[in-house]
Amino acid sequence: MPGYPALPGGIAYGGDYNPEQWPEEVWREDVRLMREAGVNLVSLGIFNWGLLEPAEGVHDFGRLDRIVDLLDSAGIMIDLATPTSSPPTWFRTAHPGARLVDREGRVIAGGSRHSFCPSSPAYAAASERIAERIAARYAGHPAVAMWHVHNEYGWANARCYCETSAEAFRAWLRERHGDVAALNAAWGTTFWGLAYGSFEEVEPPRIAPAGQLTALQLDYARFSVDAHIANFRRERDAIRRFCDLPVTTNFMIPNCEPMDYWRWAGEVDVVSNDHYLDAGRADNHIELAMAADLTRSVAGGRPWMLMEHSTGAVNWQPRNLAKRPGEMRRNSLAHVARGSDSVLFFQWRASRHGAEKFHSAMLPHAGTDSGLWRDVVALGADLRGLAGVRGSRVEAEVALVWDWESYWALELEWRPSVDLRFRERVEAYYEALWREHVTVDFAHPSADLSAYRMVVVPSSYLLTEAAGKNLRRYVEAGGHLVVSCFSGIVDENDTIHPGAHPGALRDVLGLSVEEFHPLPEGGTVPVGDGDGVGNGDGDGLTGRIWSERVRLAGARAVHAFTGGPDAGHPAVTRHELGAGTAWYVATALDPAPDGTDNGRDLRGLLRPVLDLAGVPRPRDLPDTLELVRRGRHLFLLNHGDEPVTVRGVSGTGVFDGAAHAGSATVPAGGVTVVELAGDT
Ligand code: GLA
Repeated sequence: MPGYPALPGGIAYGGDYNPEQWPEEVWREDVRLMREAGVNLVSLGIFNWGLLEPAEGVHDFGRLDRIVDLLDSAGIMIDLATPTSSPPTWFRTAHPGARLVDREGRVIAGGSRHSFCPSSPAYAAASERIAERIAARYAGHPAVAMWHVHNEYGWANARCYCETSAEAFRAWLRERHGDVAALNAAWGTTFWGLAYGSFEEVEPPRIAPAGQLTALQLDYARFSVDAHIANFRRERDAIRRFCDLPVTTNFMIPNCEPMDYWRWAGEVDVVSNDHYLDAGRADNHIELAMAADLTRSVAGGRPWMLMEHSTGAVNWQPRNLAKRPGEMRRNSLAHVARGSDSVLFFQWRASRHGAEKFHSAMLPHAGTDSGLWRDVVALGADLRGLAGVRGSRVEAEVALVWDWESYWALELEWRPSVDLRFRERVEAYYEALWREHVTVDFAHPSADLSAYRMVVVPSSYLLTEAAGKNLRRYVEAGGHLVVSCFSGIVDENDTIHPGAHPGALRDVLGLSVEEFHPLPEGGTVPVGDGDGVGNGDGDGLTGRIWSERVRLAGARAVHAFTGGPDAGHPAVTRHELGAGTAWYVATALDPAPDGTDNGRDLRGLLRPVLDLAGVPRPRDLPDTLELVRRGRHLFLLNHGDEPVTVRGVSGTGVFDGAAHAGSATVPAGGVTVVELAGDT
């Protein structure tokens, strides 16, 4: 398998380059300015299908030839795209059967990108043909460093509900279930007497009157991912017939819920990701860190590529806030700290036309006499200083379990509470660990977890029996497991595990749940901080969303509910099992915001487990200081308004060459990277 692209200058710097939107004289200015900024890689030709193939089977590569040669002459490498995320208008006219249909049966319009059915044979043939033509033409070109297939699979057409998709789904079901009796058993169709007599009777989960077989919906979600992967493979394999350079496609971790990126991971030579901040969120740097850690985990710990982010505002949020001073630099370096070997943006030059003209770019409409351009040039210089980071790895001692199938299952209709959301619970636990300065990996619940001192399972509603056994083995072998409420309830078909909840985890946790007691909207429940019975003195923790009646069967209560429907019953439990411990949290707890932690929050709850597991971490830093070790480099990112001094740091400052002998001070809003000395 080809590895990471060979690039001059170490960390890849640049972005999507769409020169077709500009007259040729602008291209020459582009490459001159790219060199000024230190750009060494651009993603080219992402939306060029209609230009390269102006009519079906008619090709014109003249413009692309000229731009490829121009970039080559300037020493700028190319991540060459196949343009298949935006089929040409003629394709839509010629192949009406390839149109995207939504769950309500509406045919989705053109005049946009991603407007095609992922199961369409016409799309398969046309996309393979253009990918092959491009690969054949540019495979040996010295400027081409790697291949960028498509753009953001599934971003706007994750699931299509047309008749072609229905047929493809039936074929997929035959493959998965073998015969219709097995499908009926898996889907539990005795419920409401909905048994299928043949695969032909199965319809996609289009809009239904009231409730719908949930296993049908889960299988449709899986089928849809596989449809996109099949499209990717066809193009990737077409490229490989001509070229053995690395092939990627840009993921959208974690903001494209329908794509199961564990399923995707083995398909690409290098994992690449697009990440955009939710500008309105004060803690969006923590969400960024989570996205980067999840991307690294999908990449199996190998270096990955930040394929897109923004220099400033995007154009597609309700209020597109500009980045604050220093924020673009902090964002970029946080991705590098967490394993990215590239900092790439959408896009090089701001567009004048179309839907994205208010999206920021490396070169803004204001031109080079702008703060943003100066920041872009300065970032290029910073990244040259980080060449030594490239290829190195981030080590994590703690893993958070993340499973897209469980994510989907918990989002289906008719669960005990709409307030209990997978992503929300993951973010709460991630944030608590981030504020404790603990770097985490993400892991599939069936993965080998033996490398981790501690594993957190945040509301993993769907857990297979095998995953439950995997977690049990992990604890028995000495691991420390923290499980939050409503985990391990159903199997892969959304069928409740036999017996009392949580069927997949009862024996691991040493308890069962007699009844769920979700709280009214906005409701809270007090949790005592005492010795297991709760003292009711009001200085304990506050649970949200959820309460439940826990029955101990080997575990002991660490905290109890001191009010609400389960007052006097366990809220947090601990079970000694083999050489490890399994903890259970029967409500939704949260980390306190910046600087307000007093131990009576989720962080306070996790600290003793981190200590028991022996997870090393600094104890004396403010929770606005982000600290990540990558290989021999220590990244210190200050998200607060005051300078922070970090002790125990010896080495050389990468950006300023400063000698640090025992400490490093990070300015407010700044980033310090230290190449650590000796054995530190
Ligand atoms: C996505 C796309 C880009 C662009 C950006 C805007 O990531 O891949 O083409 O539309 O969003 O933020």
